[in-house]
Amino acid sequence: MYPLRRNRRLRTSESMRSLVRETILSPKDFIAPLFVVEGKGVKEEIASMPNYYRLSLDLLEKEVKELWKLGLKSVLLFVKIDDKLKDNTGKEALNPDGLMQRAIKTVKNAVPEMLVMTDVALDPFSMYGHDGIVSEGKILNDDSSAVLAEMSLSHAKAGADVVAPSDMMDGRIFEIRTLLEDEGFVDIAIMAYSAKYASAFYGPFRDALDSAPVDVKNIPKDKRTYQMDYGNRDEAIKETLMDIEEGADIVMVKPGLCYLDIVREIKNTVNVPVAVYQVSGEYAMLKAAAERGWLDHDAVMMEQLTAIKRSGASMIASYFAKDVAKLIN
Ligand code: PBG
Repeated sequence: MYPLRRNRRLRTSESMRSLVRETILSPKDFIAPLFVVEGKGVKEEIASMPNYYRLSLDLLEKEVKELWKLGLKSVLLFVKIDDKLKDNTGKEALNPDGLMQRAIKTVKNAVPEMLVMTDVALDPFSMYGHDGIVSEGKILNDDSSAVLAEMSLSHAKAGADVVAPSDMMDGRIFEIRTLLEDEGFVDIAIMAYSAKYASAFYGPFRDALDSAPVDVKNIPKDKRTYQMDYGNRDEAIKETLMDIEEGADIVMVKPGLCYLDIVREIKNTVNVPVAVYQVSGEYAMLKAAAERGWLDHDAVMMEQLTAIKRSGASMIASYFAKDVAKLIN
């Protein structure tokens, strides 16, 4: 009761504030997403993601060494492949010499201790830009899951530590876990995108990988039959509990900032680590505002990421991973 209790006493100096601060960011909290392309010496800036690049394998190697020196311990790999290699069933995703498989080996050779996480979904390999196989205007669930399991196995064989299915098919965690167990890859972790919403914030990412759903008759224009409706909260819990039952080691909420109520609710409900993906649109918004001088880039970046961690995230996938690690160091 005032004046016995004056809350401002604990805010009087930075030393005092830092003594009582509840949430502190560290480079090891972060997962750095990386976009990989074919070629040599390729470093292409993504138009809607200023200062973020697609890298060829030689530059990926350099980048990963730099990230490790900054204290970052995990990367999440995505590949952009040639249109000619795309089909409806994601055949190229299973190629043992495919770009993803080579990227995994490149990272592991460059920094063996770096945790390699891989995106598992068909969209970068799909001629239709969908996360699963399309048939008669629908995204097939079970056939897609079977391919996703094969894809996960292929990543595991190439040396991935964590597979991260981002597709939202029902039962895919069970399919993946079962196949990995059967094939002896018992230590590969699954980070499930459990509560992944059908979000307009993924736009810049789809530019980066050229992976947006195509505008063709009889092909769904969006991902709303598999990604979640953003009005829903109970459903996020249901999805997450099922993924854990099916064998997920880490569960994820995506996007970040608009969904922190979901993060906290899941954090309070489950006993596995919760990851949050601060997505491309969130990155783009801050970069754009900072370019115009409307927001202080570093201050807003730290505030947003601290809010994500405070909401219950054990780890954060973010395009700011390198920026924030530099700032902390
Ligand atoms: C695709 C995938 C997406 C992202 C990660 N994996 C896009 C989508 O679902 O369309 C989005 C990441 C981002 O926006 O940063 N399976």
